[in-house]
Amino acid sequence: MYNSKITGLGKYVPENVVTNHDLSKLMDTNDAWIQERTGIEERRWIKEGSEDTSAVMGAKAARIAIERSGLTKDDIDFIVFATLSPDYYFPGCGVQIQDMLDMPTIGALDVRNQCSGFVYALSVADQFIKTGMYKNVLVIGAEYHSNGLDKTTRGRSVSVIFGDGAGACVLSREEDNTKGILSTHLHSQGKYADKLIVESPSIGHWVPEILNAKDQDISYFPYMDGQFVFKNAVVRFSEVIMEGLAKNNMQKEDIDMFIPHQANLRISQFIQRKFGLTDDQVFNNIQKYGNTTAASIIIALTEAWEEGKIKAGDNVVLAAFGSGFTWGSVIIKW
Ligand code: UT7
Repeated sequence: MYNSKITGLGKYVPENVVTNHDLSKLMDTNDAWIQERTGIEERRWIKEGSEDTSAVMGAKAARIAIERSGLTKDDIDFIVFATLSPDYYFPGCGVQIQDMLDMPTIGALDVRNQCSGFVYALSVADQFIKTGMYKNVLVIGAEYHSNGLDKTTRGRSVSVIFGDGAGACVLSREEDNTKGILSTHLHSQGKYADKLIVESPSIGHWVPEILNAKDQDISYFPYMDGQFVFKNAVVRFSEVIMEGLAKNNMQKEDIDMFIPHQANLRISQFIQRKFGLTDDQVFNNIQKYGNTTAASIIIALTEAWEEGKIKAGDNVVLAAFGSGFTWGSVIIKW
């Protein structure tokens, strides 16, 4: 069995900055409420007329990650793409990457696991490398939320949170099994699927029905029972981090860098306090980007690395929780 390690990181966010003040012109909200409840100051939303989509942003991040890994697109053996906002209902974004990057006809897989999508995607890629099937896997998380949000007062509790963006990494074979991804831990609880959901379009609620229902039908906007999701998030985050530490005989004191899914700054701060971590041991950027769902961990990891906050030998912990419910963690020896 091999280990896998991250050999290249990249990110891309749209240029268009949308501040809380900008949102207050669209709906009944204000900067104080958004900052106090979520920590978000601004987010990036793709501008109308831009070429950007989840796949296009993913391709931009992927090119940077591949270049930084010192490899070329022809060295990549497989693509895993995590998103809840694919360009098409089908096919998935993975195959678009294969085309956009002009890659050989390698396999491409889409992962549909929302906020924990990147953790799941990394785990899938890790298994392919561990077994020796592939040497280099491109893993992408990207979201184009802004076009699917209810930007009226009706949708304010959800739409102020989400931002657009993409991140990518190259995961490569590592012969030394004390380095790289040490373990991954994945969970789900479908009982709570309806607590954070986009119901339509779905096979049960298809286009003619949606067109007939017109404005009365809000099933095509994200719905979230915010407080219920929050309470479950803090419990599951803690559990799945503890599970990862225990598996590797580590204590919370062994964590050098914690990169949480950027759902809400209050959730990250709660976990930080619970695990006794200093501000330097937790990386947050939700203030600038909002919640970019499957892209959030990989954008944050890329930025933390770019800012020199992760050194060789560090124990890096990634953890996410979200719609499904699904949650997971990854323990990495950098
Ligand atoms: O990423 C996937 C996982 N997601 C999460 O983990 C998110 C978890 N949940 C949360 O982060 C929080 O629950 C939210 C940020 C979504 C909401 O914060 P909250 O503190 O739970 O607020 P609330 O929904 O209980 O709303 C409080 C009040 C309500 O007014 P009343 O009923 O008290 O009069 C809302 O109508 O705030 C009102 N409100 C707003 N006011 C101004 C809701 N949204 C807004 C808004 N601006 N955007």
